[in-house]
Formats: sequence, structure tokens, C-alpha cells
Amino acid sequence: MKVTVVGAGAVGATCADNIARAALAEELVLLDIKEGLAEGKAQDMMQTAALLGFDTRITGSTNDYAKTAGSDVVVITSGLPRKPGMTREELIGTNAGIVKGVAENILKYSPNAILIIISNPMDTMTYLALTATGLPKNRIIGMGGALDSARFKYQLSQKLGASPADLNAVVVGGHGDTTMIPLIRLATWNSAPVTKFLNEEQQKQIVADTMVGGATLTKLIGTSAWYAPGAAGAALVESIVRDQKKLFTCCVSLNGEYGQKDICLGVPVTIGRNGWEKIVDFGLNAEEQALFNKSAEAVRSMNDVLKTL
Ligand code: 2OP
Repeated sequence: MKVTVVGAGAVGATCADNIARAALAEELVLLDIKEGLAEGKAQDMMQTAALLGFDTRITGSTNDYAKTAGSDVVVITSGLPRKPGMTREELIGTNAGIVKGVAENILKYSPNAILIIISNPMDTMTYLALTATGLPKNRIIGMGGALDSARFKYQLSQKLGASPADLNAVVVGGHGDTTMIPLIRLATWNSAPVTKFLNEEQQKQIVADTMVGGATLTKLIGTSAWYAPGAAGAALVESIVRDQKKLFTCCVSLNGEYGQKDICLGVPVTIGRNGWEKIVDFGLNAEEQALFNKSAEAVRSMNDVLKTL
């Protein structure tokens, strides 16, 4: 397997590091537009191989897409991260041009690649990658929900005093502070509904803290987070290259599923060797469906901005 990570910033480098440590690929290319950055980080990571005992060959490249040729999976993290006080949506103008260019360059050399989109605003960048490249929809996966669901499990684990690994919880909808929908009604601690152990107020707080999970970190760190976003990207790569068919919430193209069309939005999907394979209907109740529709409306109006660029 050959995997490329585009963007050697904090998210891309962390994603690459996770991919190498888990030996998910024989060959891993890290590419960045900034002279020397990807080469330097690739070398630094390769110098951990003897210590950590992985065999993945990591190379770096300054914008030479020929080096990415024949990639099976490509993770796109390029673009500006948000700064404190900024929404992900404010990045649209700058990041749209970057993501479109990256996707086109990648496909010149890796026409069969599956693309994982991390760049923000993630739902709109996923829609852009789909419409700009014309790739089969199963090969375009937006990472947001996988990350937001992990953040939801973190919040639940803190309140319950539970191991995050024992929790099942998903966030659907958009990857925005006001567009994501943590489905607390369906969350379980092993198989027991978490709502059994948390009062209304605690539930509301967990949902609210999950929704601003990324913004909270941006405020603390001064820039967007990278450990969990990078790990979420690598978890999707793992499910693809090992054909695990794991169920993640990912941003994918909807054609009537969850009541929406002509949009990419976060829903539960199985991820395997063909990209996203099956959308699973969790049966939203009326209140959750109304939130999902509202989220779709907000994402759709961001997608409309693409037409004006
Ligand atoms: C975040 O939520 C990078 O959008 C990403 O941290």
C-alpha cells in the first residue's frame, strides 16, 4: 500500500506519524508546498523507525506530485488552519482554491486513489473535491465526524468516569460548531444507554462541550488542534487499507439518505477497501432529523459560496 499525506503541518505530520507507527503502508509520502518542510519532517519520522520498530518508508516532497504516483489513499490536510475566534467557515475562500488544486494534481498521478479530506470547512471542501474531480462518490471521504465522535466519547468518558474505548457514540451532521449533532440518545456505555447515568443538564453540557471541542482547543493552543484530527485521519486510512469495514461517521455524498441530496454531510458509513461502502440508517427521531436538516441548510449555504469564487 502507498499512502500520501498532503500538507506537512501539524495535522498532516501527526496523521503520517500515526500511519507509520501502525505500519499501515509500505510507502508513505508527505508533501507540502513549503520548501523543505515535508522532507525534514519525513526524515525526522524515519529517524524514529529504529526506536519504534516500523518498516514504512517515509519520504518528503516539496510539491513534486510525481513522487506521490500510484497512491492508494491520499489524505488532504492542506490549507490554512483556523486561529482563535475564527470559525471553520471563514476559511472557505482561501482553502477552496488550495484543495481543488491539490485534488487535481493528486489524480494526475494517482487516478485510482481514495481521497480523505481534512481541510476546513471540511463539509464544503469534501463537496468541492467531489464536484471538481467527478470521482465516484465512494472515493471521497470527509473526516470530520470521526474526529467529532472521538471528542464526544472523550466528553462522555470524563463525566461517566468511563474508558473512552467502552463508549459508543456518534456525531452526525456538519463539522462546524453549530452544525454538528452529537446523538446522545443513541450513545452507550458498552450496551447501556448513557442517558441512564446522566441527568438532562449533564447531557446538555456534554453535547455543548462536544460541539465546541475544536474551538476550545484553538483558543487554548492558539491554532487548530492536531493530535485527534491526525489520529482520526489515520484511523480512516487503517479501515481502508485493512478493509476493516469499520463504522465511522464521515462526510459523504448523500442522495436521499437521511433526507438530503446534493450535499456531503456526516452520517454513519462503513469504510473499507472501496472507500465508504454503505450508509447506515440510525433512524433519527423527529427532533434529530430537524437538527440534521438545519445543519444541511447551513452547509448548503457554504457550498453556495463556492459558486461565487
Ligand atoms: C478540528 O476540529 C481540525 O477541524 C479540525 O480540530
